[in-house]
Amino acid sequence: MTHRPLEMKKSLDERCNRILRNMEGALTARDRVGVQDLVLLDAHTSESAVLDNLRKRFHESLIYTYIGTLLVSLNPYRDLDIYSKKQMDTYMGVNFFELPPHIYALADNVFRTMLSEVNNHFILISGESGAGKTEASKKVLQFYAVSCPSTRILDNVRDRLLLSNPVLEAFGNAKTLKNDNSSRFGKYMDIQFDHQGGAVGGHILSYLLEKSRVVHQNHGERNFHIFYQLVAGGEDELLRWLGLDRNCQNYSYLVQGDCAKVSSINDKSQWRTVRNAFSGIEFSEKDVENLFAIIASVLHLGNVKFESDPLGNAILHDNNPELHWLSKLLGIPTRVLQQGLTHRKIEANMEEVFSPFSVEHAVYARDALAKAVYGRTFDWLVNKINEALVNKDSSRKTVIGLLDIYGFEVFHVNSFEQFCINYCNEKLQQLFIRLTLKSEQEEYQMEGIEWEPVPFFNNKIICDLVEEKHKGIISILDEECLRPGEATDLTFLEKLEEKIGGHPHFVTHKLADQKTRKTLQRGDFRLLHYAGEVTYCVVGFLDKNNDLLYRNVKEVMRQSKNAIVQHCFPSTEPDSKKRPETVVTQFKSSLVGLTDILMCKEPWYVRCIKPNDSKQPGRFDDVLVRHQVKYLGLMEHLRVRRAGFAYRRKYEIFLERYKPLCPDTWPNWPGPAAEGVLCLINHLGYRPNEYKMGRTKIFIRHPRTLFATEDAFQICKHELATRIQAKYKGYRAKGDYLKQREAATKIENCWRGMMARKEREKRAWAVKVIRRFIKGFMTRNQPACGDNTQYLAFVRYSYLTRLRDKLPRTLLDKNSWPTPPPVLQEASKLLQKLYVRHMVRKYVGGITAQMKSQLQCKALTSSMFKGKKDNYPLTVCRPFLDTRINEADINLKVLQTIRHEGIKYGVPVVKYDRNGFRPRLRQLVLTQTAVYLLEDTKIKQRIHYSVSVSNLSDNFLVVHVAYDEVNHKGDLILQCDFLFEALTKLSLITNKQNSINVVQGSVRFDIQPGREGFVDFRSGGESMIYRSKNGRLMVVRMTSGGPFVFVCAHSYGGRISKYKRYASFPRNPPQTRCQDDLRHNILIRLPGSLNV
Ligand SMILES: Nc1ncnc2c1ncn2[C@@H]1O[C@H](COP(=O)(O)OP(=O)(O)OP(=O)(O)O)[C@@H](O)[C@H]1O
Ligand SMILES: [Mg+2]
Repeated sequence: MTHRPLEMKKSLDERCNRILRNMEGALTARDRVGVQDLVLLDAHTSESAVLDNLRKRFHESLIYTYIGTLLVSLNPYRDLDIYSKKQMDTYMGVNFFELPPHIYALADNVFRTMLSEVNNHFILISGESGAGKTEASKKVLQFYAVSCPSTRILDNVRDRLLLSNPVLEAFGNAKTLKNDNSSRFGKYMDIQFDHQGGAVGGHILSYLLEKSRVVHQNHGERNFHIFYQLVAGGEDELLRWLGLDRNCQNYSYLVQGDCAKVSSINDKSQWRTVRNAFSGIEFSEKDVENLFAIIASVLHLGNVKFESDPLGNAILHDNNPELHWLSKLLGIPTRVLQQGLTHRKIEANMEEVFSPFSVEHAVYARDALAKAVYGRTFDWLVNKINEALVNKDSSRKTVIGLLDIYGFEVFHVNSFEQFCINYCNEKLQQLFIRLTLKSEQEEYQMEGIEWEPVPFFNNKIICDLVEEKHKGIISILDEECLRPGEATDLTFLEKLEEKIGGHPHFVTHKLADQKTRKTLQRGDFRLLHYAGEVTYCVVGFLDKNNDLLYRNVKEVMRQSKNAIVQHCFPSTEPDSKKRPETVVTQFKSSLVGLTDILMCKEPWYVRCIKPNDSKQPGRFDDVLVRHQVKYLGLMEHLRVRRAGFAYRRKYEIFLERYKPLCPDTWPNWPGPAAEGVLCLINHLGYRPNEYKMGRTKIFIRHPRTLFATEDAFQICKHELATRIQAKYKGYRAKGDYLKQREAATKIENCWRGMMARKEREKRAWAVKVIRRFIKGFMTRNQPACGDNTQYLAFVRYSYLTRLRDKLPRTLLDKNSWPTPPPVLQEASKLLQKLYVRHMVRKYVGGITAQMKSQLQCKALTSSMFKGKKDNYPLTVCRPFLDTRINEADINLKVLQTIRHEGIKYGVPVVKYDRNGFRPRLRQLVLTQTAVYLLEDTKIKQRIHYSVSVSNLSDNFLVVHVAYDEVNHKGDLILQCDFLFEALTKLSLITNKQNSINVVQGSVRFDIQPGREGFVDFRSGGESMIYRSKNGRLMVVRMTSGGPFVFVCAHSYGGRISKYKRYASFPRNPPQTRCQDDLRHNILIRLPGSLNV
């Protein structure tokens, strides 16, 4: 079954072992002083061993010992430092066996079990008078007050629960011989908790208040505390108002025990506590006033003395001061009171007659009234406290009941009260037997678990003896009380002997054997209770059981103006002649009710033991304790605990709680619960002797096994909580994420919507603009109107901006001026003019003297060749130089000859012979007066001339030499690379522009005077110069005119690597800085067009 990883098992085992080690370590340490749990005693069947253990611990001030979960508490009769807040904190939330036994451990365990199992519990605190029951119940209450969750409302309830104690103790407790603060009533208090463990309400049930104490106290005992507290602590004014003296000795109800003052009791400070408690539990001032009026009137009633008239009838004088105070405090007219206390109303023959009391009878009636008033006021008080504790929230609550009820009582003389109290203890023992012993055995049998029967005494036989219908002591007593005729306590005894004489647990003087008879008086009967023998004296049984209050006295009380008295004696009370229920029958019914209340809750026990009778600290009376050990049923309980199992739970419940401890059972076990439990405990490593599997339950032998499991669960719970928390956080985060995503989508949608709307608006706007534009365009030629104003403005604007960006850069650029729209035709012209002028001015402003002369030359060239010679445009951009031949390059001899004429220009030329047209290199030098053709050292010719050139793009010129020239040899045919430059210079120097002719077709020349020759010019695919067949010089130049392109080629080492074509001469042809001689750009004009 253990499929989970080994490490997990190891870590859990380690945790369990650690917890076990801790627990066991603590156990061992404490074992130095006896054992903390009597179950751990080796000789667990020996009463002496139990006693020894208790004694040992008692002498070490260890007053608490466990028997399993039952707590045995010994009264230390001194204050031990074990009830501090620190101690409470130590025990809070700690497992039962982890710390030394303590009432806090039990209280905490009950509380936590209640919370975890969500069911009701009660703590039965039993023990004899003075054993410490009330103290124990207070400790439990105090622990809850500190340990329960606190809120303003819860604190309120908590305070009221705590404050109810001093009030109830003041009215219901008294000093007895056994206990200076003996509870003279049984008390069951329910504390109601909400599902978080907050105390939200409470309810108190009281049982059989010992009313007889109001009118009579044994020697050494006192009346209820409240009387003494009022007399000792009451403010002067209050006492004056109540007609009381500050002296208990003045009140006959307070002095019978002759111990009104006791050193151990501080009535004065108790008074203050009670007064404060009243306001804490919401008693109004009026309620408190009425309450003290009643207490005072009881004291006054006790002091009422009757006188006897001659007939022996009781009389009470009008001026009796007590009568006066009673009348004032109870708000009853004096006369009515006077008659009520001295007469009895009898109905005879349909008439009501007042029959006077004898003095003795009057005293009896007075006492009966005092008891009734006090008793009913006590009930009112309990109800009033319950009103303050009531939980207004009706949602489901869990409850812890605290039962502090009188323990078994055995006095020297035992009366009716002891009979009732001991009967009550028999009933509680029955409950214990039913809940624990018997049910335990039955359960084992039912579950099919092997069980060695534990012999125990079932006291049902005694309960039956007391309460059986018609045959029981209670029935017989009631019968005697109710039957007509002279019934007395002795006739009751006789009836008992008659009816139950043979019962093994009943014996009287008459029925007893010789030996026993010596220990019995004639008026006694003895019951063999489960806790031992008790001899009861029958005197007063009938009277106390009847608890008669005369009808007319009730009527008197009904007239009271005191609200509490009115409430206690309601006019609705049955006024018939039918007898009210007897005291013992009422008590029996209330015990049946109590049994029902307790039977449906989980029991927890605190057994209080009184170590000695003398209230001395440190004294351990073996006989007394042994007796209590016996009648508290500790031995039986111990035997059952040892034989049986400490813990059992239905498989479903056990599995539900501990399933997280095993991966196979968590989160759900698919099969039957029993198998799941088996799997779980195998996983936890239970040893076979530690548990048994019943039919429907698992039985765990030792508490430590369970606590180890519980501790492991507590640790595991946190891990689970973390996981659940993580899951939940994840779930929340996912939820948040989805929300955010939804929100984001929404925002996105809205945003997109908004953007789309904007876009739509923009488009609508655009449509309008475009429409307006189109309309403007369509009406652009109409006079300015609404439709075209904007369009025209736009046209103007865009034209002007375009113009700004595309203004021609040079004056020569005539074509790039943007074409204006019709509306700006005129403006454009004006602008263009302005701009040209501006450019001119700018250009002219920037012209240097050198440039000016250059321009003049160019202008001259233009006037001579523009439109006349094809290759003229090529020269426009080529700057003219001053000369192409420096003086240094002219032969010195020649130079000397012509220098004086002033050399203006020199250029290399190729001279073609007039006959053979052989080319020869010559220098053409222009002086102020002549043109020289130089051949090295010779001046070949000094020429006066006119010049002809062709209209084509060749660079030939024919210099016509005048006939009057001395050495006329004929005309010169020259080829000059700088033709235009040379001719311009020539015409400038000679100032003979007209002597340069541009000839179309052939140029005639004189070979020699009288013999002419021709140079033919033609355009062709290739430049050639040759002598044609007709003897003329043929100059073919590459086709000039027509489409041509400029190609800027980048050559490297004679090869063209890349080139770019231009439609016109590029303004800024790309320049390449030649790094070596191999690399350069060449600009060539080629025939063709860009499209080619
Ligand atoms: N745990 C305790 N520590 C110190 N003193 C205690 C303790 N328990 C009891 N006493 C002392 O014993 C006295 C009697 O205790 P308590 O009134 O609780 O007895 P009881 O069992 O209620 O008696 P009764 O049945 O008469 O009401 C207390 O007044 C107190 O002085
Ligand atoms: Mg008590």
